Amino acid sequence: MEPEADEVQQIIRIDSELNKIRDYDILLERVLLEARRVVHADAGSIYVKEGDVISIKFAHNDTKQKSLPPGEKQAYPHFSIPVNDKSISGYVAMTGELLNIPDVYNLPPGLPFSYATAYDAKVNYKTTSMLTVPLKSQNNVVLGVIQIINAMGPDGKVEAFTKQDETLVTHFAANATVALQRAYMTRSMIIRMIRMAELRDPKETGAHVNRVAGYTIEIYERWAYTHGVGKNDLDKNKDLLKLAAMLHDVGKVAISDLILKKPAKFTPEEYAIMQTHTCSGARLFDDPQSDFDTIAAEVSLTHHENWDGTGYPGWVDPTTGAVLRADAEGRALKRKGEEIPIWGRIVAIADVYDALMSRRVYKEAWGEDAVLKEIRAMAGTKFDPELVDAFFDVLPRIHDIRERHPDSE
Ligand SMILES: [Fe+2]
Ligand SMILES: [Fe+2]
Repeated sequence: MEPEADEVQQIIRIDSELNKIRDYDILLERVLLEARRVVHADAGSIYVKEGDVISIKFAHNDTKQKSLPPGEKQAYPHFSIPVNDKSISGYVAMTGELLNIPDVYNLPPGLPFSYATAYDAKVNYKTTSMLTVPLKSQNNVVLGVIQIINAMGPDGKVEAFTKQDETLVTHFAANATVALQRAYMTRSMIIRMIRMAELRDPKETGAHVNRVAGYTIEIYERWAYTHGVGKNDLDKNKDLLKLAAMLHDVGKVAISDLILKKPAKFTPEEYAIMQTHTCSGARLFDDPQSDFDTIAAEVSLTHHENWDGTGYPGWVDPTTGAVLRADAEGRALKRKGEEIPIWGRIVAIADVYDALMSRRVYKEAWGEDAVLKEIRAMAGTKFDPELVDAFFDVLPRIHDIRERHPDSE
């Protein structure tokens, strides 16, 4: 059966709407919604391939959603499935082939996979028809899987998915694939930026950068827990914050080698130049529509600000250098307290802890007791006191991270 003219119109309209969405998470969820809507499916999920597993990104279920109070978003368990031929979605991820199954409880004999009924039991739902489509790049690499469940007939009964449904869902899957490819490319470019910064500054080793990012995530998770940040926001922010924390000193690429690699303490003039790495870093992330750029710019700009307003660079526009808030003499006012974005406040603690614990050209490493005493003493002056508490709450995890990323020398 050919799609009707108004259906084609509708698909074109949805495509152009999807094309306007820049945020990868929002786009994936919209693709799932539109793919379900166009084939009248009650439920569905989207998985993203991460190494040799696929992890669930979004799950929808209209029947379950209707039983919830309005405004409340359905919770679903987070899980990963191995990419192999034992499960339906694992098989599709492995082979890159679409599977259209009329009834998952009555699979024909001789198939390598079976349907995991435990999930239905857990969420109290009956899956029958299932259409599983790979999210495949042009060079046939599987990036994820979209799974559409229970085609609803006009009488409200579950039907099998048709050939036309296969075409429609495959069509929408292509939109999700483009988004995934874009996200992977962005990520690998960021990893290259981190390597580049490492080449420029011998003090910013891979180990230091990984430790600072690790500590940052631990402190943020603790903070997010006490502030009631939801699971979805938490996962997303953790992902972005980790890369942003790794890039905290990327602005040092703009500092002369004579200063950057000076094997002694800086003169006041050299120190003033060194401080510009905050603004230079922030300038690299000037896309205000990307959540990653916002976080990375804030980390770069504010990771040397102090809670009591004695840090740098203060209220300046990193792009133009213009003073945003001036004192009586026209100098930039310092940021203090919660004027400093949470990301900058967290990275500040992580960075200082790691710097004090490590040997530098101009100083020996301190013993940990002395470092912890110093951090405690700086609660309320250099650091946000609440975050200092969070840091001490997660100290055992901080030690784990330190052990996992030792300095190579
Ligand atoms: Fe820095
Ligand atoms: Fe650092």
